[in-house]
Amino acid sequence: MSLLRIVACMTTVVLSIRTSNAYECPSYEDIVQTSLEGYRASELDGGSDSIWYMVATNEPTLPPICTCGINNITVSDDELTYEYTNTDICQGLKEPFQIHIGGEINGEFPGNMKENAIIHNHQLKNLDPNMVFHVERDGNKDLDVVYTYACLGHGLFSFNVLAKTSTRTTQEIESMIAEVDNMIGHGILKIEKVRIVNQTSYETCEV
Ligand SMILES: *[C@@H]1O[C@H](CO)[C@@H](O)[C@H](O)[C@H]1NC(C)=O
Ligand SMILES: *[C@@H]1O[C@H](CO)[C@@H](O)[C@H](O)[C@H]1NC(C)=O
Repeated sequence: MSLLRIVACMTTVVLSIRTSNAYECPSYEDIVQTSLEGYRASELDGGSDSIWYMVATNEPTLPPICTCGINNITVSDDELTYEYTNTDICQGLKEPFQIHIGGEINGEFPGNMKENAIIHNHQLKNLDPNMVFHVERDGNKDLDVVYTYACLGHGLFSFNVLAKTSTRTTQEIESMIAEVDNMIGHGILKIEKVRIVNQTSYETCEV
């Protein structure tokens, strides 16, 4: 092997090691599934008595003592904006933990959203990607499960499974996650450290 080829070969090895270490936020086009055809962001907004159960999450900013997340989402189709509260039950705390988030919807690809926290009615700037990349529908074609992936910057990522019902077993939720990971391609989504909230947990939390 010529010296040049050895150098070229070593460079390739070094570059590929670097690439595999530098995980970056996937683009929406890389992860969006055909299930998003016909999807409208306003479908997330089920009206005043509608909530989403966060049956799986690895949200890095959610304190580990908190579980049983529910999201109450409001969407403005006209303004292409949305907001929601995420409420969680935290061990040892009398009051639920609550965070208020606001964001923008891409007019062309409504699953492609950006968001940040709203603190004291003030929307924090520098919105981060929050992508609805796969949905499942029930027999009436209504949304049943929504899979989201958020990139929070600073090397932080958040994979979430939002469901209309809280009555799933751990096994069911685990196989939903495995299926979606296979569908997208293993390693493209960071799904490590996912915390699952099954039916028993939601019953215990009484939410
Ligand atoms: C969800 O938010 C809406 C609008 O802020 C509010 O009217 C409704 O009571 C909330 N629903 C639940 C179940 O928290
Ligand atoms: C929920 O998880 C707990 C703790 O792992 C387990 O004991 C319980 O059987 C699970 N319940 C369901 C419905 O999967």
